[in-house]
Amino acid sequence: MQFAFPKTVIAQHTIQQILSRIDIVEIVGSFVKLKKRGTNYLGLCPFHNEKSPSFTVSPSKEIYKCFGCGASGNTISFIMEHEKYSYVEALRWLAQKYNVEIEEKEVSAEVKQQQQLADSLFIINNFAREYFSHNLLESEEGQNVGLAYFEERGFTKETIQKFQLGYCSNERDTFARTALSKGYNLDYLQKTGLVAIRNEQPADNYRGRVIFPIHNQSGKVLGFGARILVKNDRAPKYINSPENEIYVKHKVLYGTYFARHSIDRLNECLLVEGYTDVISLHQAGIENVVASSGTSLTVDQLRLIKKYTNNLTILFDGDNAGVKAALRGLDMAVEEGLNVKLVLIPDKEDPDSYVQKIGAPAFRQFVADNKQDFVLFKLQTSMQEAGNDSTRKSQLVNEIAETISKIDKVEDFTRQQDYIRQCSQLLKIDEQGLIMLVNKFIRERLQKREQQLARNAPPDDDNALSDEAIAAMEAMETGVEVVFSTDEKQEKELVKILLRFGDMQFSEEDHNTVADYVFHLPYDFESLADSEIVKKILREYKSLYDGGNTPDRKWFLYHQDPDISKNTALILEDKEADLSVNWKERFEIDTVYGDNAYLKDTISTTNYLILRKIKKLILENQQEMEKADTFDVQMKCIEVHQHLKQLEMELTQGIGTVIFR
Ligand code: GTP
Ligand code: MN
Repeated sequence: MQFAFPKTVIAQHTIQQILSRIDIVEIVGSFVKLKKRGTNYLGLCPFHNEKSPSFTVSPSKEIYKCFGCGASGNTISFIMEHEKYSYVEALRWLAQKYNVEIEEKEVSAEVKQQQQLADSLFIINNFAREYFSHNLLESEEGQNVGLAYFEERGFTKETIQKFQLGYCSNERDTFARTALSKGYNLDYLQKTGLVAIRNEQPADNYRGRVIFPIHNQSGKVLGFGARILVKNDRAPKYINSPENEIYVKHKVLYGTYFARHSIDRLNECLLVEGYTDVISLHQAGIENVVASSGTSLTVDQLRLIKKYTNNLTILFDGDNAGVKAALRGLDMAVEEGLNVKLVLIPDKEDPDSYVQKIGAPAFRQFVADNKQDFVLFKLQTSMQEAGNDSTRKSQLVNEIAETISKIDKVEDFTRQQDYIRQCSQLLKIDEQGLIMLVNKFIRERLQKREQQLARNAPPDDDNALSDEAIAAMEAMETGVEVVFSTDEKQEKELVKILLRFGDMQFSEEDHNTVADYVFHLPYDFESLADSEIVKKILREYKSLYDGGNTPDRKWFLYHQDPDISKNTALILEDKEADLSVNWKERFEIDTVYGDNAYLKDTISTTNYLILRKIKKLILENQQEMEKADTFDVQMKCIEVHQHLKQLEMELTQGIGTVIFR
């Protein structure tokens, strides 16, 4: 059997050429009849059935969005979704459309090898998925055993097909032999966990089990869960694929592929424990649901959810001894800025059994009526537990203050204040007292971070404290609102400037463009950045720039990595609404800043970031000075201090000449 692996990649300047031609209205318009409505276009959504149009295209933002089914994206994702193309196939399609000649480059041997391995695993999984589902629906054993089991559990044919469920025969090696005879590589078959070597012979790993394929966000099969049919104390209930190059457990949630549009539309994600919970809820028409597969949530999984929504509702099984343990892990979700709600499913039921028992409308109602706020729930359960034990009570006040202190994102400031008010009422303690306690935890983390800074170690995630947190703390103490200004915002501002003005003239003698200016400063903004996404974008920008191609916004807006494309859109967004830009575009007149506002923006943003760095260096140096045990070291520190102070002063005065030379 032969597979075609891509041996080349499309050259970067070809991609840029293609992207610069893209006109979303023209492309989408060739598949959907669009009518102009104000600044946007409107049509019938090609991704779901509808009679009145709810599909809109925004030429200024270069995105489409359907208000009916929630489908959304840019020109490239439109082609990918509509034509079922990969990213590269979509680019090739556009190249043909716009008559751009494609120049290709050899991919490096190492990359090629990795690609091939990943592709092989996907191909094998896809083969296995087809094999198992064919086996379930067509073979005698499959029908009598596997299909009968699913039907008994109340799954319809439609559901079984949608989730691509399957069955592996209860024989030693039927699947393995078929796969090997078709030329699939034995090493790769083992890597996927489908086949194991037993008594020196290949054997099927999922014998006599029903199969649940686990999909990535675009529907490709990463691995499988295989459930035993009869209760057997010696065999595990589920066997899951082992980790390999494509299946990284802590980054996957079961069901995201089927749930993503619904999560986006309803702006809420339901989280359950098991495969069958997801499937039953879908069958009942509740589609915004994913499963953690019985393990506790990881930061990566939380971030996956955050791409779609900030509202996470966790449905806990009724039997749950695990609730208490799970509650501890949920502080992390609060730190990630998620709005966490809990629903306890009644005794001895799980979402699967419960929705089948009471029906979809009653289930929805139950969830709506029983949704509890995580922080308040945690407080209430521990209060019940503590009873009149006063030691336990004060412990509890500390715990809740710590949880609240972790809500430190700027947009959550009001939420934090609400919690303080509600919790102090529940606990019957003074609000000011709780505020002080919360601040104590914030301060402790701040100190820890500074110590880490001084030791020159990267702060660990757990204890990272944002500037918003510090500002919020100050605001709470003084009782006034503060205007938050953070590095992250300024870092994103720098990205925005590069994307919008990178190739525009910069009027300093030695620098031709804004990008030249930024990259010739003696500061490496990428490594200085706190924000991971900013780092990612700057890294790529710089490498393209170094290769002689200054990328524009489209490069990032249409990026293959959805993290980049989505964040680029967000970063560019506010400015698009900016008065100065709109005025100029609409009326062709300059605002008060004149044509050169971008120069001012560039200088003030880079200055700001450098200033922050200098302040950090001063702090580090001071700590160094305190530890210094010889006169020489002390003198050295003092010199450094004076130099840094000088730089700081010049920068704050807006001169900055020392630094820029
Ligand atoms: P049913 O019992 O068929 O309703 O399945 P369920 O998916 O509801 O399973 P359960 O509530 O027992 O477990 C929740 C999830 O934990 C499952 O979906 C699996 O992902 C995982 N799980 C359960 N048992 C095992 C096991 O024995 N091994 C592994 N690796 N995972 C398991
Ligand atoms: Mn179950």
